Amino acid sequence: MSTITARSDVGRAVNEVYALITWVCAVILIVVFAALLAAIIRFRDRGQPGLPRQIRGHSLLEIGWTIAPALVLLMIVIPTIQIIFRTQSGARPADALEVTVRGRQWWWEFEYPGLKIATANELHLPVGRTAVLDLEGPDVIHSFWVPQLGGKRDVVPGRPNRLTFTPDTPGEYPGQCAEFCGISHANMRMVAVVHTEETWQAWVTAQQAVAAVAGEVAEGAAIYARSACVGCHAIRGVSAGLIGPDLTHVGSRKSLAAGILPNTLENLTAWILDPAAIKPGVKMPALGLSEREARAVAAYLLRLK
Ligand code: CUA
Repeated sequence: MSTITARSDVGRAVNEVYALITWVCAVILIVVFAALLAAIIRFRDRGQPGLPRQIRGHSLLEIGWTIAPALVLLMIVIPTIQIIFRTQSGARPADALEVTVRGRQWWWEFEYPGLKIATANELHLPVGRTAVLDLEGPDVIHSFWVPQLGGKRDVVPGRPNRLTFTPDTPGEYPGQCAEFCGISHANMRMVAVVHTEETWQAWVTAQQAVAAVAGEVAEGAAIYARSACVGCHAIRGVSAGLIGPDLTHVGSRKSLAAGILPNTLENLTAWILDPAAIKPGVKMPALGLSEREARAVAAYLLRLK
């Protein structure tokens, strides 16, 4: 979660402001400490009797130390505001990739309206193409933060926000909800995967397809289809729940429960058996499945690549 190794235009712009503020503050620090040191030496107690000369009201000084900080603030405020506006401008480049980001207690939903796909906790983007993230909050205030791609932007119920940036280096960049949003705020992580053009196309094609499931996980598929799972989760062609993450390609994801655990059979089985033991406050209830049944469902879900 580096805030100083930028991997997008916005990340670089934020770093420029950061560098500017650092240099301005460094100069202030040097000036203040030089003046302090000079005063300590020049006006030190040399054993003279009585009080030193008392000064009250010095108009030039008063005006000076009002104007100087105002100028310093202007130097910081102008580029900061320029960048804030640039990252949420209304204009969308013609080839921009639109992603609807929903912060939920406690996971991230990424929906690609133009591609008709949805995923959770893994934001996939192509390198070199502008991404327009429309941020919506269906429950409480969250904050989208993938430090290497862009600064924090709040996800506020009833007040759509936008973040526009262009990733410039393929790679995986961790992110985290940055606004306290309840008991599992710390467990609301994500990863942004920036693809090369080829791997991006392959990912989109795979996500748009319906995962083929072989006979050996038929038991898990049947348990899924007759359990409460279907009320909350969508698997294209199987169920259409809207409350929890879309599971159409859950087996292709690297992590589980918003980035808390690697997505393995053991972990997914444990999650299905008792989600609250892994993520306190989680909305998903324990379904009362036996360990064997939970393992069968996990095996089925992991086949949804
Ligand atoms: Cu969502 Cu903190």
